Amino acid sequence: MKPRVFVTRKVYPQAVAILQEDFIVDYRDTYEVADPDTLKRKLLLADGIVCQLTDSITAELLALAPKLKVVSQVAVGYDNIDVDAATARGIVVTNTPGVLTESTADLTLALILSVARRVPEAERYLRCGSWKRWDIDLLAGIDLNGKTLGIVGMGRIGQAVARRAQGFSMRILYSAPTPLPPALGDELRAQHVPLRMLLQQSDFVTLHVPYRESTHHLIGVDELAVMKRGAFLINTSRGSIVHEAALVAALEEKMLSGAGLDVFEHEPKVHQGLLALDNVVLLPHIGSATIATRTRMCTLAAENCAAVLKGERPKNPVNPGVLR
Ligand code: DGY
Repeated sequence: MKPRVFVTRKVYPQAVAILQEDFIVDYRDTYEVADPDTLKRKLLLADGIVCQLTDSITAELLALAPKLKVVSQVAVGYDNIDVDAATARGIVVTNTPGVLTESTADLTLALILSVARRVPEAERYLRCGSWKRWDIDLLAGIDLNGKTLGIVGMGRIGQAVARRAQGFSMRILYSAPTPLPPALGDELRAQHVPLRMLLQQSDFVTLHVPYRESTHHLIGVDELAVMKRGAFLINTSRGSIVHEAALVAALEEKMLSGAGLDVFEHEPKVHQGLLALDNVVLLPHIGSATIATRTRMCTLAAENCAAVLKGERPKNPVNPGVLR
């Protein structure tokens, strides 16, 4: 009997085709998120699951999946999956790093440029008919040239952001648990500094750390208070890395000039305070959303799932200790 793979939500069809070569594929071809009862029912029979960041793969759910061997996430972040519980049950968890680095870095720069040059605000101004004439200070923003960019987390995406920022002649600081090898730090012209110093000196702070218990509210009341007055905060990682209510207060108090946010604490809910502010750019978690990248994320997740079910080593195990 062929192994059975449950695909929780709509994916690019190439991924389904890969799985169909060797497995029985139970494909929920819908954008609707599966409710917990559906997930329970489906996991009872599944050998593998291809899931998304909208699916909560809890310890309770995993306990009800007697055959499950692999949880394959279509994303680099996997904070929706209880990896410890999976590991305890010998279930491999995989993700899709690497393939979304450039797209996410592009969107980060799009947010930096948007807040610096007030692009969405200017477009709203024009569309609502407010534009009557050219004025010397109409929607004047700030230059990136010569400004300091603080990159919190210097993994693949942080480094790709640094490469782009060089093209804008920005000074680059970064904070990370361990510094980059000196040659790479030099190539990126990026200086390793403690987080506090980064926050004090940066005109733009951009977040590229994974969400963990240790990064929950990494940018909270105290961190926002030490940020350079008039700086901008950019977040394309996970919403809960920022204390959203504290950010709203800092923006309302004009401690910060603005923010560019692609992720939120309670997606798809967005804090009312953010919606009320003109100096923030708000996007619906589209950091990796190009057709090519999302297609590759889906096919990579399918390949990871297939590898585990065929007894091969998947390319991107999150808990490699489970693999013998
Ligand atoms: C991820 O991969 O974790 C993003 O948030 C979605 O691409």
